[in-house]
Amino acid sequence: MEASREAVQREIRELLAARNAVLLAHNYQRDEIQEIADITGDSLGLSQEAAKSYAGVIVFCGVHFMAESAAILSPGKTVLLPRMDAGCPMADMVTADDLRAYRAAHPETVVVTYVNSSAEVKALSDVCCTSGNAVNVVRSIPPEKEVFMVPDRNLAHYVARVSGRRLSWWDGFCPTHERLTEQDVDRAKRAHPGALLVVHPECRPGVVAMADAVLSTSGMSGYCRRSEAREFIIGTEMGILYRLRKENPGKTFRLASRALICPNMKLTTLEDVRDALATLSPVVTVPPDIRDRACAALEAMLRVPRDVS
Ligand code: 13P
Ligand code: SF4
Repeated sequence: MEASREAVQREIRELLAARNAVLLAHNYQRDEIQEIADITGDSLGLSQEAAKSYAGVIVFCGVHFMAESAAILSPGKTVLLPRMDAGCPMADMVTADDLRAYRAAHPETVVVTYVNSSAEVKALSDVCCTSGNAVNVVRSIPPEKEVFMVPDRNLAHYVARVSGRRLSWWDGFCPTHERLTEQDVDRAKRAHPGALLVVHPECRPGVVAMADAVLSTSGMSGYCRRSEAREFIIGTEMGILYRLRKENPGKTFRLASRALICPNMKLTTLEDVRDALATLSPVVTVPPDIRDRACAALEAMLRVPRDVS
């Protein structure tokens, strides 16, 4: 079993060199993919790194909206998504038609769109945000303006609480993070009273209120590395544990609930990555008119300083 895993990993590394390609893996990907990735990171950080690289081909191990972001930020490169069926249910909860109708009814409102959204939805937005910079993005908007956040109600609730700003939002959510309940967290805290609770802002407001830190996946990595604490309860998708344990060999990480698995993030296998490189498909593209408008919303976000977490 191990021998074949290593053999496929070797094959992938050879194909990457032959294709002048870079392998990106989101922090939630399977361990065996994170092991051989050139860069592991959060959704937007990966796309930014890809845009800087000299590689002509980007292999994005993540979900569809992430590959679209890479295609938007790297228009001259070929972006491969090894599993085209790896989508994000939260991103699918708001469509371009939904947002078009909202904008028609609220023409003055500033629309802030989480990067977990389709390129078409980004193209209809004023500015994007990530889980790491959403608070700063909202703070950068003049206080007299109405703000509407799309699509994650939990991220919006968290931003409203931290920024003190009155916001309205779309009623979307991440089904994986939504599964983590206050009862799960209470149980984990009682079992490990010395541990710090670190959660993602996609969690329910009740869970977020119980946390010691609320961070993006890359924010969690930095926080746990810098922290003096030895034990952590983690409230996000289980794939992050690979990176946290690798970066912090002396510290203990426990998942707040066994239900924290995103099936879409687990779809991509080593064989899918190898086949994508061998065939240079499937390719993710964004039509030029959508790309230009989505890029403007991403660039508006990039002008706002990212939260130092
Ligand atoms: P980040 O890695 O940007 O924190 O996003 C979490 C997530 O749910 C991606 O699908
Ligand atoms: Fe989407 Fe949630 Fe899965 Fe991230 S963890 S890809 S937000 S469903």
